[in-house]
Amino acid sequence: MTTSPATARISVDREAVVAPIDRRIFGSFVEHLGRCVYDGIYEPGHPTANEDGFRLDVVDLVRELGSTTIRYPGGNFVSGFRWEDSVGPRDQRPVRRDLAWHSLETNQVGVDEFSRWLKLTGSELMMAVNLGTRGIEAALDLLEYCNHPSGTALSDQRIANGSPEPHDIRMWCLGNEMDGPWQTGYMTAEDYGKLAARTAQAMKAADRSLELVVCGSSGSSMPTFGDWERTVLEHAYDHVDFISCHAYYQERGGDLGSYLASSIDMQYFIETVVSTADHVGNKLKSKKKIKLSFDEWNIWYLDEHRESDEVNDEWRYAPRQLEDVYSVADAVVLGNLMITLLRNHDRVASASLAQLVNVIAPIMTEPGGAAWRQTTFFPFSVTSRLARGEVLKPRIDAGTYATAVYGDAPLVDSVVTVDDGAAAVFLVNRSLTDPITVTVDVSELGVDTVAEAVTMWDDDVYAKNTLADQERVGLKTLDGAVLDGGMLTVTLPPVSWSAISLA
Ligand code: AHR
Repeated sequence: MTTSPATARISVDREAVVAPIDRRIFGSFVEHLGRCVYDGIYEPGHPTANEDGFRLDVVDLVRELGSTTIRYPGGNFVSGFRWEDSVGPRDQRPVRRDLAWHSLETNQVGVDEFSRWLKLTGSELMMAVNLGTRGIEAALDLLEYCNHPSGTALSDQRIANGSPEPHDIRMWCLGNEMDGPWQTGYMTAEDYGKLAARTAQAMKAADRSLELVVCGSSGSSMPTFGDWERTVLEHAYDHVDFISCHAYYQERGGDLGSYLASSIDMQYFIETVVSTADHVGNKLKSKKKIKLSFDEWNIWYLDEHRESDEVNDEWRYAPRQLEDVYSVADAVVLGNLMITLLRNHDRVASASLAQLVNVIAPIMTEPGGAAWRQTTFFPFSVTSRLARGEVLKPRIDAGTYATAVYGDAPLVDSVVTVDDGAAAVFLVNRSLTDPITVTVDVSELGVDTVAEAVTMWDDDVYAKNTLADQERVGLKTLDGAVLDGGMLTVTLPPVSWSAISLA
């Protein structure tokens, strides 16, 4: 039940700047998992494949999605990965068992091929090193292979392998989810903090300008959440730049109302990690502030996957794993999570939607066949395209609705960006039943025209795009958006995400 009439007011103070937009907030994630790489971005023999075996129809969709940095090659996969297997002549690369996802890794795609793929998509590489089964030496070797120009054993090996220019990778993740018992080589916070600090120190001895991400908790529901961050940062604070956050959401038990308010959990997560990091920084009397890399976030129907037999005893190549099909409601939640990331952009400087193709992904493919957009594709691509310049934190005056998980939750959520004569307003209506008419005071933003107004909404909140019906759901025009005398008025359909671009 809602507690107020279906209207809301938002005011935007031009001075309420959260941060200038760092494009890395629109990052994504490609893991050697299921059909993300193999039979996803890479499918030699597909009619659109290029000479490297990369599907160009998928490349086009990635460009349209607007993802920037791409975290690679895992995820849980990285904790058993020997990077040397995946470089050099393809016919000599070994097939290995990937214990994380119980599948076969052919190593036909490695850092050299993936860097070429990134040139096609116009994205930047964010590399993870294996701190599960390996350690400092392998991390340093990979760094030398990727970034050293020439004249050393490993840089010359890269050149001989057909990559004359260094890959020049700026951001590096020090392992993945090292707190999780499912992780190959998982550790206590104490052990990981020491290893991460030593690895970071050594990597920065090679290149002081690298940006390093230390593993935070693999989720805010971990029993060690908070303590993990504190202990790890007590060891590694001086040597790292970011701490990671991972969060996945799903609708549980038919409780759509709580699910639509998932951003409240993300906000709590961010605030907890920021205050823990600042506590350690203050204790160490450090002038540096640790930034957050929200390098895994998405909707993931994890409970259902736990019950399925996707990971079974067979050793399979590119099995169908984690192939969630997303609804309109999922897209609304995803759009709201992006609003939350932007509203915390002063500390969340980088983020990666996990993942990019087939595996809990905005883009789906069929072997030998089509590639198409999931519902979640749309809020991501529109936000990446329209959010420019600086993020502003609006003041939102809206009613609330009762949720089982979060208590009373605001019906409307929003963030605003502004850029030299242009602005964008992103809005969510979480009401299950009512349209809400929102008035946004944008008089301080120097805009007077509605350039574009789109919404993700449907009569059926569970409508999806599938192989059989790839365009069932798309963006709709948000009719009736009016900007008059500095006041923008829009009516948001129930369970909707919308974006309005102003010029
Ligand atoms: O994104 C899927 C998996 O989720 C990643 O491999 C892991 O880091 C996380 O648990």
